[in-house]
Amino acid sequence: MTDTATFDLAGKNFDYPVLSGSVGPDVVDIRKLYGQTGAFTYDPGFTSTASCRSEITYIDGDEGVLLHRGYPIGELAEKSSFMEVAYLLLNGELPSADELSGFNHTISRHTMVHEQLATFFRGFRRDAHPMAIMCGVVGALSAFYHDSTDIHDPQQRMIASHRLIAKIPTIAAMAYKYSVGQPFLYPDNSLSYTGNFLRMTFGVPAEPYEVNPAIERAMDRIFILHADHEQNASTSTVRLAGSSGANPFACMAAGIACLWGPAHGGANEAALNMLHEIGTPDRIPEFIARAKDKNDPFRLMGFGHRVYKNYDPRATVMQKTVREVFETLNVSDPVFETALKLEEIALNDPYFIEKKLFPNVDFYSGVILSAIGFPTSMFTVLFALARTVGWVAQWNEMITDPDQKIGRPRQLYTGPTQRSYVPVGER
Ligand code: SDX
Repeated sequence: MTDTATFDLAGKNFDYPVLSGSVGPDVVDIRKLYGQTGAFTYDPGFTSTASCRSEITYIDGDEGVLLHRGYPIGELAEKSSFMEVAYLLLNGELPSADELSGFNHTISRHTMVHEQLATFFRGFRRDAHPMAIMCGVVGALSAFYHDSTDIHDPQQRMIASHRLIAKIPTIAAMAYKYSVGQPFLYPDNSLSYTGNFLRMTFGVPAEPYEVNPAIERAMDRIFILHADHEQNASTSTVRLAGSSGANPFACMAAGIACLWGPAHGGANEAALNMLHEIGTPDRIPEFIARAKDKNDPFRLMGFGHRVYKNYDPRATVMQKTVREVFETLNVSDPVFETALKLEEIALNDPYFIEKKLFPNVDFYSGVILSAIGFPTSMFTVLFALARTVGWVAQWNEMITDPDQKIGRPRQLYTGPTQRSYVPVGER
């Protein structure tokens, strides 16, 4: 169903079609606006801009709803597996038992990386941030795979997609091993995708490594919660890089670079660092005051969201998973108690209520990841590992979208108008 929106510009009326999706806000199709009116729209941060059509993920920020190909995140987290969700995001439907087994087989046959890729790690200082290593090494994959980079060949696109999903855990584990000075472990394809990652990360050649099924399940659920999230900053980065026809491995490296920022995927590391800085619940009011102080750049990390003006449904599952992991490991952590208290105080504070600031996916994730044994510097690497599935699905959708062309926004120019060069002796 389409209506029209009428713009009155300089006394002239211009009609633009209003398009409706299957659910969610309509869009005003303004593709002809500049050609007809000579004016651009202005939307820094794209707060009111739809950059594309997509069938992959739907978010209702007011209701706190997140659907992947129509399936609610809570159901997928409870009943599905990360590999099944990866198949769903890539192909649009939940796999049959045979399709899932075939997908698992295909992915497991791409888990090893080229032996020369290991030499890229040696160039980094041991104390390099693992995200810096991920940017470099994932980008380097573009130098190794020339047989799967004709992005207009669906077969080659799928090979590149499978290689990225399969190799990202291996590279993530290698980044961790390099940072702690331990040898890399090769993948063991007798394990699940997530079990394999845990073994490559925490196993050592000197002794067998037993995957703890409860931790494997919790980690797999954490990957599901981070798999995709509509047109967030890093996904938009991957789409924009991909719109020029760039090598898919280089596009994912661009996504990793964007995800690293503390306002985005880097918030999980920043949130745990903040909780440690707060320390005990009696210091919470001091930090709440700072978060509300316009003159203080400090923000409550893990709180707020561009889209969710309600509780992030992923944070709900994450908090539940914290309790399960703590019970399994028979541990407690005062930081979790501080996080719960901080959430309670913030959600009852008029500032947070008025601005609709709720915990997001990053608020509790660090507490679990720390309990499982990951250093904070690895938290965003784990986010990138899981989000690679979403980036790959969105990249494929972008390439096959007939509406898509190279992304090239315009601007509102406020610089100097034309002027003549003045020789240095006359300035
Ligand atoms: C992720 O887009 C996605 O989908 C991202 C993600 C995904 O899965 O891909 O969900 C993952 O990135 C989650 C967000 C992780 N980031 C953080 O937790 C960092 C802390 N949060 C903020 O930096 C902020 O909330 C953002 C960046 C997440 C959203 O910022 P917006 O949409 O640009 O909103 P804004 O900065 O304009 O904030 C609106 C108001 C502002 O006050 P006013 O200028 O209107 O007076 O709310 C305030 C902000 O100052 N505000 C906060 C706050 N977040 C927003 N105040 C204190 N603490 C905060 N955390």
